[in-house]
Amino acid sequence: MVRVNYLATLLSLPLAAVALSKTPLTLQELRKQIRPQGAQTLSERQTETTAKYPAFNISVPIDHFHNDTIYEPHSDGFYNMRYWFDAQNYKPGGPVIVLCAGETSGVGRLPFLEKGIVAQLTQATNGIGVILEHRYYGESWPVKDLSTPNMRFLTTDQALADTAYFAQHVKFPGLEHLDLTSATTAYIAYGGSYAGAFVAFLRKLYPETYWGAISSSGVTEAIWDYWKYFEAAAVFAPTGCAETTQKLTNVVDNILLAKKKDTKLVSQVKQAFGLPNVTADADFASSINSGIYSLQGYNWDPEAGSTEFFVYCANVTSDSVLYPATEPLRERVGELIEAGGWGNESKTLTNRMLNYIGYVRGETVATCDNEDQDQCFGTANSAAGGEDFAATDISQTWRSWPYQYCTQWGYIQTGDTPEGVLPLISRTIDLEYGSAICKTAFNLTKPADIDAINKHGGFGISYPRLAIVDGEWDPWRAATPHALGLADRVDTLDEPFKLIAKAVHHWDENGLFPNETTAELPPTAVVEVQKAEAHFVQKWMQEWKLEQARRSIASLS
Ligand SMILES: *[C@@H]1O[C@H](CO)[C@@H](O)[C@H](O)[C@H]1NC(C)=O
Ligand SMILES: *[C@@H]1O[C@H](CO)[C@@H](O)[C@H](O)[C@H]1NC(C)=O
Ligand SMILES: *[C@@H]1O[C@H](CO)[C@@H](O)[C@H](O)[C@H]1NC(C)=O
Ligand SMILES: *[C@@H]1O[C@H](CO)[C@@H](O)[C@H](O)[C@H]1NC(C)=O
Ligand SMILES: *[C@@H]1O[C@H](CO)[C@@H](O)[C@H](O)[C@H]1NC(C)=O
Ligand SMILES: *[C@@H]1O[C@H](CO)[C@@H](O)[C@H](O)[C@H]1NC(C)=O
Ligand SMILES: *[C@@H]1O[C@H](CO)[C@@H](O)[C@H](O)[C@H]1NC(C)=O
Repeated sequence: MVRVNYLATLLSLPLAAVALSKTPLTLQELRKQIRPQGAQTLSERQTETTAKYPAFNISVPIDHFHNDTIYEPHSDGFYNMRYWFDAQNYKPGGPVIVLCAGETSGVGRLPFLEKGIVAQLTQATNGIGVILEHRYYGESWPVKDLSTPNMRFLTTDQALADTAYFAQHVKFPGLEHLDLTSATTAYIAYGGSYAGAFVAFLRKLYPETYWGAISSSGVTEAIWDYWKYFEAAAVFAPTGCAETTQKLTNVVDNILLAKKKDTKLVSQVKQAFGLPNVTADADFASSINSGIYSLQGYNWDPEAGSTEFFVYCANVTSDSVLYPATEPLRERVGELIEAGGWGNESKTLTNRMLNYIGYVRGETVATCDNEDQDQCFGTANSAAGGEDFAATDISQTWRSWPYQYCTQWGYIQTGDTPEGVLPLISRTIDLEYGSAICKTAFNLTKPADIDAINKHGGFGISYPRLAIVDGEWDPWRAATPHALGLADRVDTLDEPFKLIAKAVHHWDENGLFPNETTAELPPTAVVEVQKAEAHFVQKWMQEWKLEQARRSIASLS
């Protein structure tokens, strides 16, 4: 299987458009993307979908908050925010279902209009489906370039205000004769991941404009040091996978982070993994962790995700040697395990480490054909890196999400587990390393202002007609109201609270055409949750009709 680079996963995964991928992207991943060969190509199916749905613009204010000094100098201008819609299921009285596209081009979300959650909800309610692009993504640019000062209008609050403005002002082309604004029509928002948190806040901040919202894998709690990204893998990975990864990571860390660092051992461990020329220890450590990182990319639809996580786990839990080419390393690996403090378990760990090495060599090392491996795997201060991050022209679309997590959201994924808990990625991957891009790209040196997000309710957010839907195995679960350790909530039609068993990241978002379903796909848990969503949105529409009747009676008297 071709190894997808992470920004490509973030932006153009064929169907599910997995968001918040391996966030934050390390400089190394961003660099892979910036290179020409990293350019994304839309899958054929996506191109077909794009052709079916023309894009439209709505003109919205660049600056909704002239009262807030953080946006100085203010702007009185307007910009074009892009959207798509599908009215084939529309009947008078039906709602507008707005899928907020979140931190990626809206194009990646188009499949949901015809066969994912949006199609299902519009069919259930005679609604109009909309994909609404978020400012500073895709083609919705309020500014001419992406210099740090020009990023100032990229806050979640401004984007939420855009989304309210859309509902209050939109005139759908071809349907201009109808008033389909929120004054007369129910608006229901759906979002997955960042957009999931986004629609939860939207419902709470603009309850008069958005009648309901479904927050799927909504990361409503912003967290600066998000070491808990790996909690789901630690708890739910196939037997032995997390334990082996922890022990082998600890072997590496005990060498890289030894009080009396033995440089010979350090080069031996890098050499063993086939990465002898990666200079920075954290860059090396970051280059060997793609396997345990791949849980998020798992989707029930093989076209929309990958099963790489299970392939990796099968590799590191196998007790037979899977890569005969690693056999000559046996003795050296034994020494490294000993030096790394796990000599007492070298009987089982040696073959597993050989398999891990074989996996990394095949999946990661082989993707680099430059003998200066820092060109492929190096980051922050490597001679080759810096200048790419200085570029601020409008084509530098990678800048938007890092800007958002550097300033407001955090989610720096580190190996900073509490003492006594072995991390699944190296402790060399710390806050300083993970947030290096904030300084390099934006000259930002302070932690994100997570209060700007958590003021909306964080883990505790709740609101009438706000549904919270999460995946049991999602690495982002630890930032949602379903985080392990939080009290369970009652699941009601008014405030649905659903955990999809054995599911990962917003598994209710994508769907299949009836002619594509099989006995196994979609899995029952997904079918059930999507049915439940259609059901509670129908219920919300009944309430809407009552409310409309009440309002018209009130206006008569
Ligand atoms: C929407 O706005 C963008 C940017 O201003 C522009 O390039 C594009 O042509 C517009 N699209 C339509 C359909 O008007
Ligand atoms: C600006 O006005 C909005 C309402 O439009 C309000 O919610 C917000 O708190 C105000 N911000 C400041 C900094 O006063
Ligand atoms: C080990 O990983 C490779 C991919 O790197 C895969 O092709 C192979 O099937 C895996 N082996 C097992 C036993 O799962
Ligand atoms: C081996 O050593 C490690 C590290 O000291 C320890 O945590 C682990 O429990 C030991 N394993 C066994 C099987 O005794
Ligand atoms: C590491 O660098 C040396 C010296 O430039 C080069 O000969 C060697 O091929 C490089 N090794 C790898 C695996 O890139
Ligand atoms: C970075 O920020 C510091 C402190 O705010 C400032 O003095 C410096 O000029 C900035 N550098 C760049 C390149 O913008
Ligand atoms: C399956 O159904 C969809 C939607 O009705 C249609 O566009 C597509 O052509 C069908 N595919 C096949 C292989 O019949």
